[in-house]
Amino acid sequence: MSGNPTSREESFLVTGGTRLAGEVSVAGAKNSVLKLMAVALMAEGRTTLTNCPDISDVPAMAEVLRHLGCVVEISGDTVVIDTPADVGHVADDKAAQRLRASVCILGPLVGRFHRAVLSMPGGDAIGSRPLNWHQNGLNALGATTRMDHGRLVAEATELRGAGYKLSFPSVGATETFVTAAVLAKGTSVLENAAREPEIVDICELLTEMGAKITGAGSSTITIEGVDELHPVSHRVVGDRIVAATWAMGAVMTRGDVKVTGIDPMFIHVVLEKLRGVGAEVETGADWFQVSQQGRPRARNVRTLPFPGFPTDLQPMAIALASVSDGLSVVTENLFEARFRFVEEMVRMGVDAETDGHHAKIRGRERLDSATVWASDIRAGAGLVLAGMCADNVTEVCEIFHIDRGYSDFIGNVRSLGGQIERVDTHR
Ligand code: UD1
Repeated sequence: MSGNPTSREESFLVTGGTRLAGEVSVAGAKNSVLKLMAVALMAEGRTTLTNCPDISDVPAMAEVLRHLGCVVEISGDTVVIDTPADVGHVADDKAAQRLRASVCILGPLVGRFHRAVLSMPGGDAIGSRPLNWHQNGLNALGATTRMDHGRLVAEATELRGAGYKLSFPSVGATETFVTAAVLAKGTSVLENAAREPEIVDICELLTEMGAKITGAGSSTITIEGVDELHPVSHRVVGDRIVAATWAMGAVMTRGDVKVTGIDPMFIHVVLEKLRGVGAEVETGADWFQVSQQGRPRARNVRTLPFPGFPTDLQPMAIALASVSDGLSVVTENLFEARFRFVEEMVRMGVDAETDGHHAKIRGRERLDSATVWASDIRAGAGLVLAGMCADNVTEVCEIFHIDRGYSDFIGNVRSLGGQIERVDTHR
């Protein structure tokens, strides 16, 4: 697994005009593995995670855990976390600021040790990402939380089971509440919980460790507190966002791609949308295949919490709209800054405008190659797909973002026939 973060000077050069075709398998989900690693803090001993993706956020999360006293070994697709009886409760500022997902240590630390100090986490530049609902959930369980010089401080003498209703089904706030409630005294009920497959994965790991949780994957999760958890071995759920990236690339390039290692129900809405633009889609238990002949038709897309269209695929939806026949309206309901991607598409000759939560895109048969900038993980992947539909060579800059979330991105694109190379523009 790559321990060294990609240099900010590295770019991808993408040659347009090739069709993505072939078979690709997806590794475990970034948005699950980082949380599962944090859950390992909740049990003394060795927790083993398999099917882990080779992404730079995994060693970054390992650093966060090491600073708390864990021994973390990464070998191939396996991560072993050895958690001591007592761990630190203050997250290292530098390590935590490197990744947004470091917030997921909050629930496990408060749950098991009744205290946590965390500097406001870093991560993608996709909009303001407050922690108020995380705090409210912890407060409901009896903790006190406050901001102190840019750090979130959470403390409790004991945690008591409680009811809490989220005003919006936030993924992170659901995880914080559930992980903290698992070791609380008594029963907790979370209403309007997030229903993402990664939430189910975390609840499955916790249950294997001895937690008593019902309703994961529905809007109401009930947690009966237990005294302690024990370490186990667990396989990380497949990455639906990576899987859908290849599906959308197949449609954009009029290709034919089979993706394995993923339950297609996790991206049911996306596959239905692709059928709507003209793709043929076949599905099996842990695979799907998408093929497209001719130019895709324009379709509107609205991002919503699961099971709706994922915000993490919004850049790919805009990239698809950019080569579709007609006018598409893409509505972003989760992260306000995610339309930065549209500016990059405009560089590639697309007729697009944004207005608040909406982007209107009139597609072109072929895009102009250009130098473009990845502002976050998914925007980076979307730009590479767009580059494959451009007339010449597109340079996608700041690809360290892509390496945070996609295992062997370049290898996968090449195995599907895409022409892409990594260059260090600083040399
Ligand atoms: C997670 C994913 C991210 C995905 C997102 C939505 C990880 C590491 N990241 O992010 O890839 O795009 O879910 O599917 O798993 N909010 C508040 N207050 C809070 C918490 C959230 O206002 O306390 C807002 C956010 O600003 C955002 C919305 O709620 O507008 C959704 O955020 P949330 O579901 O919590 O996303 P994350 O868990 O941060």
